[in-house]
Amino acid sequence: MRVMVHVVSAELPSKPVLWNLLQLYAHEFSEFTDQDVGVDGTYAYEYFDRYWIDPDRHPYLCHDGRLVGFALVDSGEPHDMAEFFVMKKYRRCGLGTDAAHEIFALHPGAWQVRQMAANTRATAFWHRAIPVPFEEVVDDHGPRQLFRIEPTGIEDP
Ligand SMILES: CC(C)(COP(=O)(O)OP(=O)(O)OC[C@H]1O[C@@H](n2cnc3c(N)ncnc32)[C@H](O)[C@@H]1OP(=O)(O)O)[C@@H](O)C(=O)NCCC(=O)NCCS
Repeated sequence: MRVMVHVVSAELPSKPVLWNLLQLYAHEFSEFTDQDVGVDGTYAYEYFDRYWIDPDRHPYLCHDGRLVGFALVDSGEPHDMAEFFVMKKYRRCGLGTDAAHEIFALHPGAWQVRQMAANTRATAFWHRAIPVPFEEVVDDHGPRQLFRIEPTGIEDP
């Protein structure tokens, strides 16, 4: 039986943990972004520090007893899933869907999730993981889905 995933706010002591996971994510994404590492061997991430300063930025770690992924959320109108990552070993078990649902429930209101056009796997994922009807807009950057999460929460099927 699959273990429940828990999304927890990444407080300041967990900042280096999230940075390490962000490196794995950026490495995987370099397939799409062509980003190079800097001279220190790490991928830069411009807004990283602001997730521990700005009240509208929310860093999360995802656990199921193991550390399985992370998310960065920018709250606003709409809320934006800036980054979302499940490590390779734990994929295709529903963890990403469960974590996304927990995050949506933490931030009721208007939402958008965005994908790079080349990241068709992510688009397939969001099409399944968004728990309510959505509108899809495609522009030069790629697809994004717009939807609304009611404060009553998300009902499990
Ligand atoms: C996208 C990602 C978060 C999915 O996480 P996950 O835990 O594997 O997702 P789930 O197991 O909940 O998948 C739910 C459904 O989404 C779809 N899906 C997920 N990954 C998919 C893939 N690689 N290809 C096609 N469909 C996929 C499937 O329909 C899947 O259901 P199924 O396994 O029964 O077929 C994960 O692959 C990831 O972190 N990728 C790299 C980072 C990334 O692209 N993030 C999204 C940025 S917009």
